[in-house]
Amino acid sequence: MFKVWEEPPVNRLSMTRRDFVRIGAGAVAASAAVKATLLEPTALAAQADTGRRIRFAIIGTGIRGTDLLKAARMVPTGVCVGAADLYETRLDAAKEAWGDEIPTTRDYRTFLDNKDVDAVLIATSDHLHRRVTLDAVAAGKDVYCEKPMSHSVADGQAMVAAVQAGKRIFQAGSQRVSSILYAKAREIYASGRLGEVHSIDAQWNRNSPGGAWVYPIPSDASPRTVDWDRFIQDAPARPFDPVRFFRWRLFADYSSGLGGDLFVHMLSGIQVITGLNSPPIRAYSSGGLYHYKDGREFPDFLEAIYDYPSANGGIQVHVHCNQNNNDAGERISFFGSTGTLVVTGNSVTFTPQDVAPRFESYGWNGMTDAQREQGMDEWRAAHPTPPPSLIPGQVETYTVPQGYNDTADHIANFYRAINTRQHVVEDEVFGNNAAIGCHMANYAYFHRTVATWDAATNTIKG
Ligand SMILES: NC(=O)c1ccc[n+]([C@@H]2O[C@H](COP(=O)([O-])OP(=O)(O)OC[C@H]3O[C@@H](n4cnc5c(N)ncnc54)[C@H](O)[C@@H]3O)[C@@H](O)[C@H]2O)c1
Repeated sequence: MFKVWEEPPVNRLSMTRRDFVRIGAGAVAASAAVKATLLEPTALAAQADTGRRIRFAIIGTGIRGTDLLKAARMVPTGVCVGAADLYETRLDAAKEAWGDEIPTTRDYRTFLDNKDVDAVLIATSDHLHRRVTLDAVAAGKDVYCEKPMSHSVADGQAMVAAVQAGKRIFQAGSQRVSSILYAKAREIYASGRLGEVHSIDAQWNRNSPGGAWVYPIPSDASPRTVDWDRFIQDAPARPFDPVRFFRWRLFADYSSGLGGDLFVHMLSGIQVITGLNSPPIRAYSSGGLYHYKDGREFPDFLEAIYDYPSANGGIQVHVHCNQNNNDAGERISFFGSTGTLVVTGNSVTFTPQDVAPRFESYGWNGMTDAQREQGMDEWRAAHPTPPPSLIPGQVETYTVPQGYNDTADHIANFYRAINTRQHVVEDEVFGNNAAIGCHMANYAYFHRTVATWDAATNTIKG
């Protein structure tokens, strides 16, 4: 008769699903429980700060800019004092999002000249992040710049240099970095309960035209309502093209595709949870443009395998995005030797690994009964005391309360940093490192090569 901590002589690999339900799932269900916790919002956003009220202007009030304004309304320690956008109707959208009282303009420099403006929130298309950031820093403003921080490695280096030389507070806009969910994931990761982590899998999938950036083109779009010349600053000259203006994510002149749109959130999340704050050492990518053959210049499926430097010998990160299937949604999984941590859009789950020692019969197949008996005797002699339970501990899951808004917390962290002059977590170096990871994925994909980060020259090499 086998003792309870010994595996019965069943070939694990040849178990049928019915066997699993009978043997495996039954045991798990009997011994494992799920401890579910609703995370308390730290309500960073709602906390009254002792510092002065931050006066900010917003530059770019499209899809994200108006969301930023709505989130900023939840943070009492800041006030919007102006909005700039290149499309007339979006100036109205900015007023709808914040209030009719804010002045609006096509030319953001109006606000940079105003000494009463402390900071800018930048939510323009990616190719203008550098220009607007450099202008704002030169005018002495602190900067919240949407992700991806940079449109190219060179842009990122210029932004880091300018922010540091100007001693400005800079925060990149991957708001998950300030989320209470990610704080919980970071706490579990830092506790060491995962054991050694060498493998991380991150994915973000969608299956709708909007998820693939096929955004509406308004009927009033024209060279009269859109300041096209300003839009193509720092990009090749072209005649007015509303598709390029409203669906700029499809084109390499303004965007970095899935890398800059979605990889960046996952790489930023991984950076904040693990404490890794460096570009990857290497990246290899694959993928393709399979469905959206609408003239876009980026794949609709992209995956990359990264090697990250780590004190524990190395971490491989696998990131993939699919715009043609959303079953797995958004998730980052950290696979450790003693536990697995899974972070989704609204939950964190820690599942301990069953690492209790037991007699493993599989390797004894193909040997005689006498040999197996001998092996078992030796195993029993080496393990005289039964190990603890098969599942050492519980599955823990943490969720955020309905309506929780991590962008509001991210903005609150930015305001606090402006008042204290202490760096935020997602500062210019952090944001630049995450963006470099995205550029490396694209470099590897488009050059069909392994992209390596050359820290000596701050460039990607093939
Ligand atoms: N953090 C997030 O979750 C998140 C979500 C969506 C988008 N974003 C980021 O936000 C940025 C904007 O994305 P979006 O979806 O709102 O794009 P969008 O096209 O809807 O809006 C961009 C707006 O910027 C304006 N603009 C461009 N150049 C300008 C300039 N020089 N001065 C003033 N206005 C200018 C355009 O007129 C446009 O209305 C991008 O960098 C994107 O990656 C972040």
